[in-house]
Amino acid sequence: MPLPGFEELRKKMARDWDERACENAKYYVNTEQVEWDEDQFFQSGEMTVNEEIRTDFGNISPDRDPATLRVIEIGCGVGRVTRALSRVFGEVHAVDVSGEMIRQASENLAGIANVFLYQNNGQDLSVLPPVEYDFAFSSIVFQHIPSKAVIESYAREVSRLLRPGALFKFQIQGDPTTERDEDDTWLGVSWTDEEVVELAARTGFEPRYRVGEGTQYFWVWFFKPL
Ligand SMILES: C[S@@+](CC[C@H](N)C(=O)[O-])C[C@H]1O[C@@H](n2cnc3c(N)ncnc32)[C@H](O)[C@@H]1O
Repeated sequence: MPLPGFEELRKKMARDWDERACENAKYYVNTEQVEWDEDQFFQSGEMTVNEEIRTDFGNISPDRDPATLRVIEIGCGVGRVTRALSRVFGEVHAVDVSGEMIRQASENLAGIANVFLYQNNGQDLSVLPPVEYDFAFSSIVFQHIPSKAVIESYAREVSRLLRPGALFKFQIQGDPTTERDEDDTWLGVSWTDEEVVELAARTGFEPRYRVGEGTQYFWVWFFKPL
């Protein structure tokens, strides 16, 4: 079900991110450098996976070989992290609201047989095959989303698709001090720890760990109950 009043915001998110992708996709995906060397850019995605995935297999896949897992990535951009995820997991199903980001990701990841890319509606995961997934991940995406309802919609969708016991690990904006316009697609809405715990209760997750409350890099571990 589309969120009420969402159509305008969906168009704006898609348009703004298409424009950023056309102007300088790699910079808007990772602002550490304006002009990225291709290898260094994808190496930065490997670093994300080293830091957030390879150190965390105890939560992500405690009793299975990661190479057998089917995973979801929300907001894949041009495939920076997706490529690194594809080297760890069995299948990576990655969505992005921007058709231009997905177009560039398709070029960047051409020939990688276990990556599946989808342009989605910026709100839900109805574009994904309705099968069971073993892990979901999102990094430096929700920090840009201007609406709490959209993020809640994604949490509900991940809850619908994950197998019981599986983890949704994601990063959100936790810094409450950033000044922003209501529909700003660069500076997203910020969350308190209490709000995250309430979000988990509403969307069917156990919010087992939270790290970085009050900062831009507020990481959250939502487990789907067994
Ligand atoms: C800063 S980039 C990060 C890309 C990727 N996660 C990475 O780390 O390389 C943010 C991405 O989120 C996507 N995005 C923004 N809002 C979205 C939404 N509502 N749904 C899906 N993707 C979204 C943008 O199009 C962009 O590709």
